[in-house]
Amino acid sequence: ANSELWGGRFVGAIDPIMEKFNASIDYDKRMWAADIQGSQAYVKTLEKAGLVTAPEMVQILKGLDQIYEEWARGTFQIKAGDEDIHTANERRLKELIGEAGGKLHTGRSRNDQVATDMRIWLRSGVDTLTGHLVQLVRTMVERAASEGIFSPTPMCSTSQPHACVLCYSHAVALRRDAERLDEIKSRVNVECFLKRCCLSELQFASISLNSMDATSDRDFVAEFLFWCSLCLTHLSKVAEDLIIYSSKEFGFVILSDAYSTGSSLMPQKKNPDSLELIRSKAGRVFGRCSGFLMNLKGLPSTYNKDLQEDKEAMFDSFDTMTAVLQVATGVISTLQINEANMRAALSPDMLATDLAYYLVRKKMPFRDAHSASGRVVHLAETKGVAVNELSLEELKTVSSLFESDVSQVWDYTHSVEQYQATGGTACDSVLHQVQQLREWMERR
Ligand code: ARG
Repeated sequence: ANSELWGGRFVGAIDPIMEKFNASIDYDKRMWAADIQGSQAYVKTLEKAGLVTAPEMVQILKGLDQIYEEWARGTFQIKAGDEDIHTANERRLKELIGEAGGKLHTGRSRNDQVATDMRIWLRSGVDTLTGHLVQLVRTMVERAASEGIFSPTPMCSTSQPHACVLCYSHAVALRRDAERLDEIKSRVNVECFLKRCCLSELQFASISLNSMDATSDRDFVAEFLFWCSLCLTHLSKVAEDLIIYSSKEFGFVILSDAYSTGSSLMPQKKNPDSLELIRSKAGRVFGRCSGFLMNLKGLPSTYNKDLQEDKEAMFDSFDTMTAVLQVATGVISTLQINEANMRAALSPDMLATDLAYYLVRKKMPFRDAHSASGRVVHLAETKGVAVNELSLEELKTVSSLFESDVSQVWDYTHSVEQYQATGGTACDSVLHQVQQLREWMERR
């Protein structure tokens, strides 16, 4: 049989395969509450416009309340022909209140409904993700602040180890993601029914300007998917740093058992599966984002069924982000830091740039100082000693500017403390970053 909703002009029955192909109820039922909320606001608009009577409005509102209860209690029965959540709720409304139920759809299309439902659903989804993200940033900042963050720690930049403090770079990038999410919310939270009554009833912040745009605009979904992609880009980098640091070879951090798994073959193994999965979820979400942009590209104006693909992309990305943010928070809050291994990994050649700066302070141009420092590293290598083990005479063969005070260069703490500027590695500078991040979190 064809749908009660649109079957009037049809004589032939729909192919069962087509019916299944067309249906979105399996996934869009997640928007049941938003759909009911939207309809309840809409019927009030209809009553104000004189298109339903006050008693009919009350009947419809009550029927919708009951449907809400059924969904909430898990007793709502999806029936054959319930193509999507809008169809299912309307079918049930007519079962419950009879004829008056048929008036709810006056002047609206499912295309308006679906856009409205998506916006209602996503604006609360955005709030949920913001909460998880801020919690993650808080965990990163507070753990780092309480844990040896001020001691010199070897870090990798372009695969060459150099001395630096483990900084807040990841937390700062994630703070930008939270700010971006705030901005996206303002473009999600837009009324697209073009009914001013719904604006206040549904607590939308603004109203769409153009009705053709309103039904086809899925920029807010695309933006959300891009946001997920960028945030996961950042999180995949956090994951990668921690995978390297937790490897046997580095041993800077130890992942909690709660976020690791074992190997079915090698009993000694502890795999950082939580982190590897976070890293890989980035690929999954990028696919959702680029796939949906391809759905949108070149669509003719207004609603096209292609847009039905918006939901799985949105839900799947939302679910992925929800899980990733919580797992990342768990990983970081339970991570064990092995400061001894970090200290053991420090080596004097990491201070080669500081050695160049020493020469710069003796008025040598940086380019020449860089080259001289490189020659010192090479000299130590050929002699089979560490750079700080070369004698002053040996250093003088590279540059006569070296004096006995060069010994001060070989101090890791001094190395870190010399970068006092904003964003630098000095203790005061790092404390300033911590302070800024804490203030930002308090303001939220
Ligand atoms: N289930 C549809 C969707 O999710 C609702 C819109 C139906 N409109 C239509 N022209 N078939 O997009």
